This record gives sequence, structure tokens and C-alpha cells, in this order.
Amino acid sequence: FNIDQFQSDLLHWYSESKRDLPWRRERDPYKIWVSEIMLQQTKVDTVIPYFNRFMEKYPTIYELAAADQQEVLKAWEGLGYYSRARNLQNAVREVVAEYGGKVPATPKELGALKGVGPYTTGAILSIAYNQPEPAVDGNVIRVFSRLLKIEADIAVPRTKKLFEDCVRQVISTEDPSSFNQAIMDLGATICTPKSPTCLFCPVQEHCRAFSEGIQEELPIKTKA
Ligand code: ADE
Repeated sequence: FNIDQFQSDLLHWYSESKRDLPWRRERDPYKIWVSEIMLQQTKVDTVIPYFNRFMEKYPTIYELAAADQQEVLKAWEGLGYYSRARNLQNAVREVVAEYGGKVPATPKELGALKGVGPYTTGAILSIAYNQPEPAVDGNVIRVFSRLLKIEADIAVPRTKKLFEDCVRQVISTEDPSSFNQAIMDLGATICTPKSPTCLFCPVQEHCRAFSEGIQEELPIKTKA
């Protein structure tokens, strides 16, 4: 596996084919944070109008911190999983109170905030702060399991850590933000759960699963 060539092929594809998403026009960690929370249980197409309205209503962390919680929940109406909105506002208030409104840039401080788990921590650190941190969700697991032919059972909680270690070894240190988002796009558009379109894959020649014709068998999940 040639890491340099892989990064180069992936990042070239991303720079030409990346989806034009509203949160990709920003590096404001607050906006990245809101987008990642919205995207956790909700599809991109559904999130876009909610994200745009939310940013008009609460353009900075200060407006969201000061807002009435019922109003915030109303802005979230239709997205579901309302604890996401409550946790987000509570965490944002904590950032204003404890960090002067500046979203922290360390795994420890981020991870201590309400509703901010390892995935969101990695997403904020890499996308907003350009730190080479993994942000492992289901898409990333699927892409990496195929690419490196990782046959670990994803139903086992510990397996997540294995994928984080893999991403750490392969992530671009030059442009971790684009790297992680490129993997997300690859998982969403090409390296899909069923019938992945390997013929259009920019990193096909690096993929162990494709070379063995087993892409549809991966990742392995024993129990639902
Ligand atoms: N899904 C989760 N985070 C995403 C992002 N930043 N871009 C596209 N899809 C995503």
C-alpha cells in the first residue's frame, strides 16, 4: 500500500469532485460543529436547509448560547433526535463560559463537552483546525475495511479503535481536513454499502478488496 500515492489520488479526486456543501465554505469551528451534529443521524440533503436556517438565526456561538432553548428546539424541528440540539446548546454555553467562546482545539477538552464523542471531536479537529485526527463513522469504516481488507467484526466495540489507528497511519498531515472529507464523500457516493461503483473509484488501484473481488463482503458485521 503506497500511502503517498493513495493520498495524492484521493486528494486530487476530492479537489475536483467534492460536493459543494454550505459548511465546506467555512472553517469556523462552531459551524463545523453544528454541521457534524446535524449530520450524525440525518442525511446531507435533509441537513442543508436546516443548517442554512440555523446559521442565519444563530450566526455565532454567542447567539446560540444566548438563545431560548425552546426556540432552538423549534429550529431543530423535523431533524429529530432532539437531545442533539439540547446537548449542543448546553455545550456551546459551556464553551462561552469556560473558553471565552473559542471552541477548544484539543481532544480532551472537546471530548468533555456534552454530546461531543470521538467522531465529532475528530471531525472538528481535522476539518476546522486541520489536525491529523481520525473521524471514524460508518462510512469511514466501510471505506477503510475495503481498502485495507480489514476483516475485524464491526459489531465488536473495540474495532472502532482499530480503524482509528488505521486512519492515523494513512491520513494526510498536509491536509487532514480534505483527507477526512474526501473519505466521507467516497463512502457516500462511490464506496456505498451495496453495489459500490468501483469502476469510478479514484483509489481503485489501492483497494485490496477490489483486487480480490470481495468489496461487497466488507465490512464484516456478525450481529445486528
Ligand atoms: N457526513 C458527516 N460529516 C460530513 C461532512 N463534513 N461532509 C459530508 N458528509 C458528512
